[in-house]
Amino acid sequence: MTMTSRSSRPADRSCSRVLEVSTTDDPGTSRIIEDPAVPGRGESVLRLHQFAMTSNNVSYVRAREQLGHGRAFPAAPGWMRAPVWGEATVVDGVGDGVPAGTRVIGYFPMAGSVAMSLEPRTDGTLVETSARRAHLAPVYQHYRVVDAPTDGLEFATLHIEALASALVPDLVGAGVDHVLISSAGSKTGQALAFLLSREGVACTGLTRDRPAVGQDGLTLFEYQELSSVAVPPGTVFLDLAGDPQLRARVVAQCGGAVAYMLALGGTRLTGSIPPQQTGPAAPPVRRYSAGPRLAEVERERGAEAVRLLRDRTRQRLLAWAREQLVVRRLDGLAAAAAVWPTIVRGGHGAGEVCLVAP
Ligand SMILES: NC(=O)c1ccc[n+]([C@@H]2O[C@H](COP(=O)([O-])OP(=O)(O)OC[C@H]3O[C@@H](n4cnc5c(N)ncnc54)[C@H](OP(=O)(O)O)[C@@H]3O)[C@@H](O)[C@H]2O)c1
Repeated sequence: MTMTSRSSRPADRSCSRVLEVSTTDDPGTSRIIEDPAVPGRGESVLRLHQFAMTSNNVSYVRAREQLGHGRAFPAAPGWMRAPVWGEATVVDGVGDGVPAGTRVIGYFPMAGSVAMSLEPRTDGTLVETSARRAHLAPVYQHYRVVDAPTDGLEFATLHIEALASALVPDLVGAGVDHVLISSAGSKTGQALAFLLSREGVACTGLTRDRPAVGQDGLTLFEYQELSSVAVPPGTVFLDLAGDPQLRARVVAQCGGAVAYMLALGGTRLTGSIPPQQTGPAAPPVRRYSAGPRLAEVERERGAEAVRLLRDRTRQRLLAWAREQLVVRRLDGLAAAAAVWPTIVRGGHGAGEVCLVAP
Protein backbone atom coordinates (compact mmCIF):
# COMPACT_ATOMS: atom_id res chain seq x y z
CA MET A 1 0.00 0.00 0.00
CA THR A 2 1.33 3.53 -0.77
CA MET A 3 0.37 6.96 0.65
CA THR A 4 1.84 10.27 -0.61
CA SER A 5 2.35 13.71 1.02
CA ARG A 6 3.38 16.59 -1.28
CA SER A 7 5.32 19.82 -0.83
CA SER A 8 7.03 22.30 -3.18
CA ARG A 9 10.47 21.15 -4.37
CA PRO A 10 13.54 23.24 -5.24
CA ALA A 11 14.28 23.87 -8.90
CA ASP A 12 17.91 24.99 -8.45
CA ARG A 13 20.16 21.95 -9.01
CA SER A 14 23.43 23.80 -8.28
CA CYS A 15 22.48 24.13 -4.61
CA SER A 16 21.42 21.29 -2.34
CA ARG A 17 18.78 21.57 0.35
CA VAL A 18 19.64 19.70 3.55
CA LEU A 19 17.46 18.67 6.49
CA GLU A 20 19.38 19.06 9.76
CA VAL A 21 18.38 17.91 13.26
CA SER A 22 19.02 19.89 16.45
CA THR A 23 21.58 18.53 18.91
CA THR A 24 20.79 21.14 21.57
CA ASP A 25 16.98 21.05 21.49
CA ASP A 26 14.57 18.10 21.28
CA PRO A 27 15.75 15.82 18.42
CA GLY A 28 12.35 16.35 16.79
CA THR A 29 13.48 19.93 16.03
CA SER A 30 14.82 20.27 12.49
CA ARG A 31 15.62 22.92 9.90
CA ILE A 32 16.12 22.97 6.13
CA ILE A 33 19.12 24.91 4.85
CA GLU A 34 20.62 25.64 1.45
CA ASP A 35 24.08 24.15 0.94
CA PRO A 36 26.27 24.86 -2.12
CA ALA A 37 27.39 21.16 -2.14
CA VAL A 38 30.51 22.18 -4.08
CA PRO A 39 32.68 19.10 -4.59
CA GLY A 40 36.16 19.23 -3.05
CA ARG A 41 39.21 17.83 -4.83
CA GLY A 42 38.54 14.20 -5.83
CA GLU A 43 34.90 14.33 -4.74
CA SER A 44 31.89 13.17 -6.76
CA VAL A 45 28.44 14.74 -6.49
CA LEU A 46 25.46 12.43 -6.02
CA ARG A 47 21.80 13.34 -6.36
CA LEU A 48 19.51 11.52 -3.94
CA HIS A 49 16.36 9.92 -5.32
CA GLN A 50 14.91 8.57 -2.10
CA PHE A 51 15.79 7.86 1.50
CA ALA A 52 14.01 6.09 4.37
CA MET A 53 13.25 7.54 7.82
CA THR A 54 12.84 5.13 10.78
CA SER A 55 13.59 5.02 14.52
CA ASN A 56 17.01 3.71 13.54
CA ASN A 57 17.93 7.20 12.28
CA VAL A 58 16.70 8.69 15.56
CA SER A 59 19.11 6.34 17.40
CA TYR A 60 21.94 7.69 15.21
CA VAL A 61 21.06 11.17 16.53
CA ARG A 62 20.46 10.26 20.19
CA ALA A 63 23.66 8.17 20.50
CA ARG A 64 25.62 10.29 18.02
CA GLU A 65 28.82 10.42 20.10
CA GLN A 66 28.76 6.80 21.30
CA LEU A 67 27.97 5.34 17.87
CA GLY A 68 30.02 7.91 15.92
CA HIS A 69 27.32 8.98 13.44
CA GLY A 70 27.42 12.61 14.62
CA ARG A 71 30.55 13.36 12.60
CA ALA A 72 29.72 11.51 9.36
CA PHE A 73 28.32 14.56 7.54
CA PRO A 74 29.65 17.86 8.97
CA ALA A 75 27.14 20.47 10.15
CA ALA A 76 27.26 23.76 12.05
CA PRO A 77 27.48 23.54 15.88
CA GLY A 78 24.13 22.66 17.43
CA TRP A 79 22.98 20.76 14.34
CA MET A 80 23.50 17.31 12.88
CA ARG A 81 23.05 15.88 9.40
CA ALA A 82 21.36 12.68 10.54
CA PRO A 83 22.43 9.73 8.39
CA VAL A 84 19.75 7.81 6.52
CA TRP A 85 19.78 4.86 4.12
CA GLY A 86 18.91 5.81 0.57
CA GLU A 87 19.47 5.63 -3.16
CA ALA A 88 21.36 8.15 -5.30
CA THR A 89 22.97 8.63 -8.72
CA VAL A 90 26.40 10.10 -9.43
CA VAL A 91 25.78 13.31 -11.42
CA ASP A 92 29.35 14.60 -11.38
CA GLY A 93 31.82 11.72 -11.24
CA VAL A 94 35.56 11.44 -10.85
CA GLY A 95 37.55 9.49 -13.46
CA ASP A 96 36.52 6.18 -15.04
CA GLY A 97 35.90 4.43 -11.72
CA VAL A 98 32.94 6.57 -10.64
CA PRO A 99 31.19 7.61 -13.87
CA ALA A 100 28.16 9.90 -13.97
CA GLY A 101 25.00 7.80 -14.05
CA THR A 102 26.21 5.22 -11.51
CA ARG A 103 23.30 4.44 -9.18
CA VAL A 104 24.07 3.33 -5.63
CA ILE A 105 22.34 2.54 -2.35
CA GLY A 106 23.92 3.32 1.03
CA TYR A 107 24.43 5.89 3.79
CA PHE A 108 23.55 9.55 3.08
CA PRO A 109 22.47 12.77 4.76
CA MET A 110 18.84 13.90 4.37
CA ALA A 111 19.64 16.12 1.38
CA GLY A 112 18.96 16.74 -2.28
CA SER A 113 22.58 16.05 -3.17
CA VAL A 114 25.90 15.39 -1.47
CA ALA A 115 29.60 15.49 -2.36
CA MET A 116 31.60 12.40 -1.38
CA SER A 117 35.08 10.90 -1.93
CA LEU A 118 34.13 7.69 -3.70
CA GLU A 119 36.50 5.09 -5.12
CA PRO A 120 35.70 1.84 -6.95
CA ARG A 121 36.56 -1.52 -5.32
CA THR A 122 37.42 -4.71 -7.12
CA ASP A 123 34.12 -6.32 -6.04
CA GLY A 124 32.13 -3.69 -7.99
CA THR A 125 31.04 -1.62 -4.98
CA LEU A 126 32.14 1.95 -4.23
CA VAL A 127 33.83 3.00 -1.01
CA GLU A 128 33.82 6.42 0.66
CA THR A 129 37.40 7.23 1.67
CA SER A 130 37.22 10.60 3.47
CA ALA A 131 38.94 10.92 6.84
CA ARG A 132 35.72 12.13 8.52
CA ARG A 133 34.13 8.71 7.92
CA ALA A 134 37.24 6.63 8.86
CA HIS A 135 36.04 6.03 12.44
CA LEU A 136 32.89 4.25 11.23
CA ALA A 137 32.62 0.55 10.32
CA PRO A 138 32.91 -0.37 6.60
CA VAL A 139 29.15 -0.95 6.33
CA TYR A 140 28.77 2.87 6.58
CA GLN A 141 31.41 3.50 3.89
CA HIS A 142 30.42 0.99 1.22
CA TYR A 143 27.87 1.71 -1.54
CA ARG A 144 26.27 -1.08 -3.52
CA VAL A 145 25.83 -0.31 -7.23
CA VAL A 146 22.35 -1.07 -8.58
CA ASP A 147 21.44 -1.27 -12.27
CA ALA A 148 17.97 0.26 -12.07
CA PRO A 149 15.74 2.18 -9.64
CA THR A 150 14.81 0.01 -6.64
CA ASP A 151 11.40 -0.17 -4.96
CA GLY A 152 12.93 1.47 -1.88
CA LEU A 153 12.56 -1.48 0.46
CA GLU A 154 16.12 -2.59 -0.26
CA PHE A 155 17.68 0.52 1.26
CA ALA A 156 14.90 0.96 3.83
CA THR A 157 15.87 -2.42 5.31
CA LEU A 158 19.65 -2.16 4.80
CA HIS A 159 20.31 -1.57 8.50
CA ILE A 160 18.21 -4.65 9.35
CA GLU A 161 19.95 -6.71 6.66
CA ALA A 162 23.37 -5.79 8.08
CA LEU A 163 22.30 -6.65 11.65
CA ALA A 164 20.48 -9.87 10.81
CA SER A 165 23.32 -11.13 8.58
CA ALA A 166 25.58 -11.17 11.62
CA LEU A 167 23.18 -11.73 14.52
CA VAL A 168 21.04 -14.61 13.23
CA PRO A 169 24.04 -16.89 12.50
CA ASP A 170 25.68 -15.82 15.79
CA LEU A 171 22.61 -16.82 17.83
CA VAL A 172 21.92 -20.02 15.90
CA GLY A 173 25.63 -20.97 16.04
CA ALA A 174 25.62 -20.44 19.82
CA GLY A 175 22.69 -22.87 20.18
CA VAL A 176 20.23 -20.20 21.38
CA ASP A 177 16.69 -21.53 21.08
CA HIS A 178 14.64 -18.69 22.64
CA VAL A 179 14.92 -14.90 22.46
CA LEU A 180 12.98 -12.12 24.17
CA ILE A 181 12.79 -8.97 21.99
CA SER A 182 11.92 -5.46 23.22
CA SER A 183 10.37 -2.98 20.76
CA ALA A 184 9.25 -6.08 18.93
CA GLY A 185 6.83 -3.85 17.01
CA SER A 186 9.72 -2.14 15.21
CA LYS A 187 10.60 -3.27 11.72
CA THR A 188 13.89 -4.62 13.07
CA GLY A 189 12.08 -6.55 15.83
CA GLN A 190 9.53 -8.04 13.45
CA ALA A 191 12.16 -8.93 10.85
CA LEU A 192 14.50 -10.54 13.41
CA ALA A 193 11.60 -12.63 14.74
CA PHE A 194 10.71 -13.65 11.19
CA LEU A 195 14.29 -14.71 10.35
CA LEU A 196 15.05 -16.34 13.73
CA SER A 197 11.81 -18.32 13.87
CA ARG A 198 12.64 -19.82 10.49
CA GLU A 199 15.89 -21.07 12.03
CA GLY A 200 13.95 -22.77 14.83
CA VAL A 201 14.47 -20.05 17.45
CA ALA A 202 11.32 -19.29 19.48
CA CYS A 203 10.64 -15.54 19.86
CA THR A 204 8.75 -13.67 22.59
CA GLY A 205 8.26 -9.95 22.00
CA LEU A 206 7.41 -6.90 24.10
CA THR A 207 5.63 -3.99 22.46
CA ARG A 208 3.40 -1.01 23.22
CA ASP A 209 0.29 -2.04 21.27
CA ARG A 210 -0.17 -5.64 20.31
CA PRO A 211 -1.56 -5.75 16.76
CA ALA A 212 -4.84 -7.53 16.10
CA VAL A 213 -3.10 -9.91 13.70
CA GLY A 214 0.08 -11.47 15.07
CA GLN A 215 3.12 -12.74 13.25
CA ASP A 216 3.96 -16.44 12.91
CA GLY A 217 6.79 -17.43 15.24
CA LEU A 218 6.44 -14.37 17.52
CA THR A 219 4.46 -14.40 20.80
CA LEU A 220 3.73 -10.76 21.64
CA PHE A 221 3.03 -9.13 25.02
CA GLU A 222 2.38 -5.46 25.75
CA TYR A 223 4.86 -3.82 28.16
CA GLN A 224 2.15 -3.62 30.80
CA GLU A 225 1.75 -7.42 30.59
CA LEU A 226 5.41 -8.12 31.43
CA SER A 227 4.41 -9.77 34.73
CA SER A 228 2.76 -12.56 32.67
CA VAL A 229 5.89 -13.27 30.61
CA ALA A 230 7.80 -16.50 31.26
CA VAL A 231 10.82 -17.51 29.19
CA PRO A 232 12.89 -20.72 29.40
CA PRO A 233 16.43 -20.81 30.83
CA GLY A 234 19.09 -19.80 28.30
CA THR A 235 16.90 -17.09 26.72
CA VAL A 236 18.79 -14.16 25.16
CA PHE A 237 17.24 -10.69 25.58
CA LEU A 238 17.54 -8.70 22.34
CA ASP A 239 17.06 -5.16 23.62
CA LEU A 240 15.96 -2.82 20.85
CA ALA A 241 14.33 -0.37 23.27
CA GLY A 242 17.45 0.58 25.28
CA ASP A 243 15.34 1.78 28.20
CA PRO A 244 17.16 1.13 31.53
CA GLN A 245 13.84 0.92 33.44
CA LEU A 246 12.46 -1.68 31.06
CA ARG A 247 15.73 -3.63 31.35
CA ALA A 248 15.37 -3.62 35.15
CA ARG A 249 11.77 -4.88 34.86
CA VAL A 250 12.88 -7.66 32.50
CA VAL A 251 15.61 -8.67 34.98
CA ALA A 252 13.10 -8.68 37.85
CA GLN A 253 10.63 -10.80 35.89
CA CYS A 254 12.89 -13.14 33.86
CA GLY A 255 16.43 -12.47 35.15
CA GLY A 256 17.24 -16.03 36.21
CA ALA A 257 16.27 -17.39 32.80
CA VAL A 258 18.10 -14.77 30.74
CA ALA A 259 21.61 -15.91 29.81
CA TYR A 260 22.69 -12.46 28.59
CA MET A 261 21.29 -9.29 27.06
CA LEU A 262 22.36 -7.80 23.74
CA ALA A 263 22.03 -4.00 23.62
CA LEU A 264 20.95 -3.60 20.00
CA GLY A 265 18.96 -0.39 19.84
CA GLY A 266 17.49 2.67 21.48
CA THR A 267 13.89 3.22 20.39
CA ARG A 268 13.07 4.25 24.00
CA LEU A 269 16.45 5.81 24.74
CA THR A 270 16.21 9.34 26.07
CA GLY A 271 19.77 9.93 27.30
CA SER A 272 23.05 8.18 26.46
CA ILE A 273 23.32 4.41 25.93
CA PRO A 274 23.00 2.72 29.36
CA PRO A 275 26.03 1.00 30.95
CA GLN A 276 26.89 -2.60 30.10
CA GLN A 277 26.34 -3.78 33.69
CA THR A 278 22.93 -3.50 35.30
CA GLY A 279 23.81 -4.96 38.73
CA PRO A 280 25.76 -7.86 40.25
CA ALA A 281 22.87 -10.34 40.05
CA ALA A 282 21.74 -9.27 36.58
CA PRO A 283 22.69 -11.10 33.39
CA PRO A 284 25.59 -9.47 31.49
CA VAL A 285 24.82 -6.87 28.83
CA ARG A 286 26.85 -6.73 25.63
CA ARG A 287 26.58 -3.99 23.06
CA TYR A 288 26.04 -5.47 19.59
CA SER A 289 26.20 -3.36 16.42
CA ALA A 290 25.93 -4.68 12.89
CA GLY A 291 28.83 -2.66 11.47
CA PRO A 292 31.62 -3.66 13.85
CA ARG A 293 30.36 -7.28 14.07
CA LEU A 294 30.25 -7.68 10.26
CA ALA A 295 33.78 -6.23 10.07
CA GLU A 296 34.90 -8.92 12.58
CA VAL A 297 33.19 -11.68 10.58
CA GLU A 298 34.94 -10.37 7.45
CA ARG A 299 38.32 -10.55 9.19
CA GLU A 300 37.57 -14.11 10.42
CA ARG A 301 35.90 -15.58 7.32
CA GLY A 302 36.67 -13.26 4.41
CA ALA A 303 34.75 -10.71 2.34
CA GLU A 304 33.14 -13.32 0.09
CA ALA A 305 31.59 -15.13 3.08
CA VAL A 306 30.07 -11.84 4.28
CA ARG A 307 28.79 -11.02 0.80
CA LEU A 308 27.05 -14.41 0.61
CA LEU A 309 25.58 -14.01 4.11
CA ARG A 310 24.21 -10.59 3.23
CA ASP A 311 22.83 -11.71 -0.15
CA ARG A 312 20.99 -14.58 1.50
CA THR A 313 19.60 -12.38 4.27
CA ARG A 314 18.56 -9.69 1.74
CA GLN A 315 16.51 -12.17 -0.31
CA ARG A 316 14.63 -13.40 2.77
CA LEU A 317 14.19 -9.94 4.23
CA LEU A 318 12.87 -8.42 1.02
CA ALA A 319 10.35 -11.22 0.61
CA TRP A 320 9.15 -10.48 4.18
CA ALA A 321 9.19 -6.67 3.70
CA ARG A 322 7.21 -6.76 0.43
CA GLU A 323 4.58 -8.85 2.15
CA GLN A 324 4.42 -7.02 5.50
CA LEU A 325 5.43 -3.35 5.20
CA VAL A 326 3.30 -0.41 4.14
CA VAL A 327 5.18 2.26 2.14
CA ARG A 328 4.35 5.92 2.83
CA ARG A 329 5.84 8.26 0.21
CA LEU A 330 6.81 11.83 1.14
CA ASP A 331 7.57 14.34 -1.60
CA GLY A 332 10.22 16.91 -0.61
CA LEU A 333 12.30 17.71 2.47
CA ALA A 334 9.56 19.92 3.93
CA ALA A 335 7.24 16.90 4.03
CA ALA A 336 10.05 14.90 5.66
CA ALA A 337 10.59 17.65 8.27
CA ALA A 338 6.86 17.61 9.07
CA VAL A 339 6.91 13.83 9.73
CA TRP A 340 10.31 13.66 11.52
CA PRO A 341 8.93 14.64 15.00
CA THR A 342 6.38 11.81 14.74
CA ILE A 343 9.21 9.36 14.03
CA VAL A 344 11.17 10.72 17.01
CA ARG A 345 8.09 10.15 19.24
CA GLY A 346 7.59 6.64 17.84
CA GLY A 347 4.17 7.73 16.58
CA HIS A 348 4.60 6.27 13.08
CA GLY A 349 2.71 3.10 12.34
CA ALA A 350 4.41 -0.17 13.18
CA GLY A 351 5.24 -1.77 9.87
CA GLU A 352 5.11 1.56 8.02
CA VAL A 353 8.14 2.72 5.98
CA CYS A 354 8.50 6.44 5.20
CA LEU A 355 10.29 6.94 1.88
CA VAL A 356 11.27 10.53 1.09
CA ALA A 357 11.99 11.87 -2.40
CA PRO A 358 14.07 14.92 -1.40
N1 LIG B 1 22.50 -2.77 16.55
C1 LIG B 1 22.29 -2.61 15.25
O1 LIG B 1 23.19 -2.81 14.45
C2 LIG B 1 20.93 -2.22 14.77
C3 LIG B 1 20.54 -2.48 13.44
C4 LIG B 1 19.24 -2.17 13.05
C5 LIG B 1 18.37 -1.52 13.94
N2 LIG B 1 18.81 -1.25 15.19
C6 LIG B 1 17.92 -0.55 16.15
O2 LIG B 1 16.63 -1.09 16.14
C7 LIG B 1 15.70 -0.09 16.56
C8 LIG B 1 14.49 -0.12 15.65
O3 LIG B 1 14.83 0.41 14.38
P1 LIG B 1 13.76 0.34 13.16
O4 LIG B 1 14.39 0.95 11.99
O5 LIG B 1 13.26 -1.04 13.09
O6 LIG B 1 12.66 1.33 13.71
P2 LIG B 1 11.08 1.45 13.49
O7 LIG B 1 10.52 0.36 12.70
O8 LIG B 1 10.84 2.84 13.01
O9 LIG B 1 10.59 1.33 15.01
C9 LIG B 1 9.33 1.79 15.40
C10 LIG B 1 8.97 1.20 16.76
O10 LIG B 1 9.93 1.52 17.75
C11 LIG B 1 9.25 1.82 19.01
N3 LIG B 1 9.49 3.25 19.24
C12 LIG B 1 10.15 4.08 18.42
N4 LIG B 1 10.27 5.31 18.94
C13 LIG B 1 9.67 5.28 20.12
C14 LIG B 1 9.46 6.26 21.15
N5 LIG B 1 9.91 7.51 21.04
N6 LIG B 1 8.79 5.89 22.24
C15 LIG B 1 8.36 4.65 22.36
N7 LIG B 1 8.55 3.65 21.42
C16 LIG B 1 9.18 3.98 20.33
C17 LIG B 1 7.83 1.40 18.80
O11 LIG B 1 7.81 -0.02 18.99
P3 LIG B 1 7.35 -0.77 20.35
O12 LIG B 1 5.98 -0.26 20.67
O13 LIG B 1 7.34 -2.21 19.98
O14 LIG B 1 8.36 -0.44 21.43
C18 LIG B 1 7.65 1.68 17.31
O15 LIG B 1 6.60 0.93 16.73
C19 LIG B 1 16.45 1.24 16.55
O16 LIG B 1 16.80 1.63 17.86
C20 LIG B 1 17.71 0.90 15.76
O17 LIG B 1 18.80 1.73 16.09
C21 LIG B 1 20.06 -1.57 15.62
